[in-house]
Amino acid sequence: MKFTDEVDLQNKRIIIRCDFNVPIENGIIQDDTRIVKSLKTINYLLSQGCSLILLSHMGRIKSQDDFSNNSLKIVAHRLSELLDKPIIFSDNPNRNEVFEKSKELNSGEIMPLENTRFFDYPENLESNNDLQLANFYASLGDIFVTDAFASMHRIHASTAGISRYLPTYYGLLIQEEIRNLNPLITNIEHPFTAFMGASKIDDKIIYMRGLLKSCNHLLLGGGVANTFLSLLKHDIGNSIHSSSKKTLEELKEILNIYQSKIVLPEDFIIEDNQIRDIGMKTILKYQDYYQNSKTIFMNGTPGQFEKDEYANGTKRLLNSLRNVEAVKVVGGGASLSAVSKFNCEDVFTYLSSGGGASLAYVSSKKLAAMDYIERHNQNKMLRKI
Ligand code: 3PG
Repeated sequence: MKFTDEVDLQNKRIIIRCDFNVPIENGIIQDDTRIVKSLKTINYLLSQGCSLILLSHMGRIKSQDDFSNNSLKIVAHRLSELLDKPIIFSDNPNRNEVFEKSKELNSGEIMPLENTRFFDYPENLESNNDLQLANFYASLGDIFVTDAFASMHRIHASTAGISRYLPTYYGLLIQEEIRNLNPLITNIEHPFTAFMGASKIDDKIIYMRGLLKSCNHLLLGGGVANTFLSLLKHDIGNSIHSSSKKTLEELKEILNIYQSKIVLPEDFIIEDNQIRDIGMKTILKYQDYYQNSKTIFMNGTPGQFEKDEYANGTKRLLNSLRNVEAVKVVGGGASLSAVSKFNCEDVFTYLSSGGGASLAYVSSKKLAAMDYIERHNQNKMLRKI
């Protein structure tokens, strides 16, 4: 499959899947890296005279209550500021009206649609890759450009299904991500130390094996560490952890095979019977691993850094990388927020927009949506409505 800049897309009506799933608190975007990173493809296609429909999800929509906090309106506003031009935000859930509006778009105009996961309630259409929904998305343009690297581990209607109906190309962010994650996949310089501190534990556990195969040490924090600690019969109080039987079985097996590579925290900051951050002894231990590494991959944070009381571990670990000469890559929404909060952008050789996606890519060298797109032969496209 080709990248956007390898084909002639002049004056086309393009649908771009971006990942605008940015952290928002009290209506304020905490870190806009993912929006900024999407500008490369958007600006390139605007320079080619295209009109653009933008698709993205935000959060997870499991009930009616999830709608109000997960609108993309704030993102559309930020995008308009960054591009320094007005954009037309379509918050209309009516498919026919969105379709009519899409036909009115002129060259150089941009229309982000409302959160694709609004179609997840009550029927899970987006996340189940409903092909009728994918076909509706496809009806809004002539070409599909997939640039949502951070969502490429999901086979959803807007990341994968839509490609069944339209000529599809990869965007420039995907190109950038693949190039920059490559040193974590091929010809890795060892020692390779990875850090994982996820809260979406069950989602990410599946990538742990792949990572453990290629890294020398896997340092753990957050919910993943807590789940291991509870398996080892440590008292973790009410700390965030997984109690999924499948995850626990998986972790037991991982621990048996890779015990010598897995490094767990030893001391903690605890409040209200919950682990909130790692303690000083753990910070020093983890820093020591970093100092002796040639490749470092950070995915997630060791503490709830959003609150100053629990930020010490994250802040110190990030800053300690300043003096380490290595390939240093950090990935994920929360990690990027932390990097920006503690002004550590210059510490890393690359900031990846992908959390689960960068983990999936580094650990398995594959992304599910990419596989899906490649598997469904573009010459045998389904008929668009
Ligand atoms: C992310 O934040 O990792 C991506 O936007 C994907 O979000 P998801 O885990 O809710 O699919």
